[in-house]
Amino acid sequence: MENIHPIFDQVLARTSKEAMLHQKGIVLWFVGLSGSGKSTIAKALERDLHQAGKLTMLLDGDNLRTGINNNLGFSEADRKENIRRAAEVAKLFADNGIITICSLISPTEEIRNMAKEIIGKDYFEVFINCPLEICEQRDVKGLYQKARKGEIKNFTGIDSPFEHPVHPSIEVRTDLTSLDECKDNILRAVTPLITQ
Ligand code: ADX
Repeated sequence: MENIHPIFDQVLARTSKEAMLHQKGIVLWFVGLSGSGKSTIAKALERDLHQAGKLTMLLDGDNLRTGINNNLGFSEADRKENIRRAAEVAKLFADNGIITICSLISPTEEIRNMAKEIIGKDYFEVFINCPLEICEQRDVKGLYQKARKGEIKNFTGIDSPFEHPVHPSIEVRTDLTSLDECKDNILRAVTPLITQ
């Protein structure tokens, strides 16, 4: 860091961008098991926000893993690096007034605390809660079956841990509530925070 001279204090102010966009930047950090409904709700929420004239960015774990994170696997260290990069990128977007939705499993309290620390006051944690048994029954991508057969190692919820978030900003239950209703509940909670 010795020879690095950041110009954070000289870049155009965030408030100028926010005023232009008529919105406030935020990071909606979606946490949940594979198959819990994170991506489905994130996509629907983004569509609603877009229709309301808001500028959004959706950072999805699977998508990021095809690009900026394509050198990472599912060891604890790689997941941590995956989340660190996603959080740093999300921070850049939020600092430009953009409503940034991050959809990553983010399996441990340690990992989520790191994201929270990087993002700071803009971090809004959304727990997409669904029991493992239901995610496994749904098995949208067929990955749980592969994990049970031992064809995928370190699969979250099977042979890799998932710790329930302790104090999420909001929690929705996709096994008890329709995905559309979950999305509406999140939208209702977020609207006052993104309104100028
Ligand atoms: S995280 O744990 O590092 O936050 P991330 O959200 O980026 O995970 O990626 C999870 C996605 O990768 C899953 O939705 C699934 O499609 C795929 N995947 C492949 N292998 C695994 C695995 N071992 N554990 C969990 N997800 C996996």
